[in-house]
Amino acid sequence: MSGKPALLVTRKLPQAVLQRAARDYEARLNPEDRLYAPDEIVERSQGCDAILCCSSETFTAELVARLPASVRAVATFSVGTEHIDLEAARKRGLVVANTPEVLTDCTADVTMLVLLGAARRAYEGQRMLRENKWTGWTPTQLLGVHVSGKRLGILGLGRIGRAVAKRARGFGMQIHYHNRSRLAPDLEQGALYHAEAEDMLAACDFLSINCPATPRTHHFINEARIARLPERAVVVNTARGSIVEDEALIAALRSGRLAAAGLDVFEGEPNIHPGYRTLPNVFILPHMGSATLETRDAMGFKCLDNLDALFAGREPPDRVA
Ligand code: 8YV
Repeated sequence: MSGKPALLVTRKLPQAVLQRAARDYEARLNPEDRLYAPDEIVERSQGCDAILCCSSETFTAELVARLPASVRAVATFSVGTEHIDLEAARKRGLVVANTPEVLTDCTADVTMLVLLGAARRAYEGQRMLRENKWTGWTPTQLLGVHVSGKRLGILGLGRIGRAVAKRARGFGMQIHYHNRSRLAPDLEQGALYHAEAEDMLAACDFLSINCPATPRTHHFINEARIARLPERAVVVNTARGSIVEDEALIAALRSGRLAAAGLDVFEGEPNIHPGYRTLPNVFILPHMGSATLETRDAMGFKCLDNLDALFAGREPPDRVA
């Protein structure tokens, strides 16, 4: 008996994170990085004091109720917490912590990447070169949507939304936003607040979705709201796929009503709507928002910081339940 708390780590995390977990915990690792089904989580966490999971594992109320009594905490390697039934966790007395702040810049960078990739037809350009179909420069080849001077509407001006705004200002974009309540001027930094999302949609050439996935935001970007956007607007989503109704977005991209979309997240990942695969005017990435070694290390260390605090009798700094 080591005296260390026992920790189930559900996925293969970066080496430095696993080393620290193995140093400070009796760590049960998943070197093959297999996805554990709920039954397996219950089985593998027998006798564990905590679980370090990712957003790939869904902790429904049923799973939370079935966790061994020894499990005191779940630290999720994500800022998003929609995969954990927080209400059920609270009822069960299960502590839950996430990883805010450390992935803000990284995710904002990818937001600009997909925004620019979509606007400037980067996929079509890549394809032309890779398929050896470039016959030479022409004055009218792959003309995209101009970015500088355009209006960017940010749905959810939280940490990531504000980091996107900061970058977009550098591109000469004017920032509009919708939140449920207006932010203080030092956080707004001149961004124009719209109390109604519909009003913001009508006022933006680019839309960036940066809000969390909640019952309120589920399929928020639907046919009616897409219709509020100006003709040939560009939609960007690096938050969660479930916020967008795929059929509506695909129809608008197919008809040319929207010029393009830049997407890093999808409903039902990794089984994305097949319509996205064939559309030339979508720039798509496989959920890479936080994918740098520095950020993933920092996310893992944050999970461990939270668990360390709990087992030292302190309040985990990023406790969400
Ligand atoms: C993670 C994310 O990579 O943190 C989040 O909420 O969406 C991503 O950055 C992923 O969820 C890992 O669990």
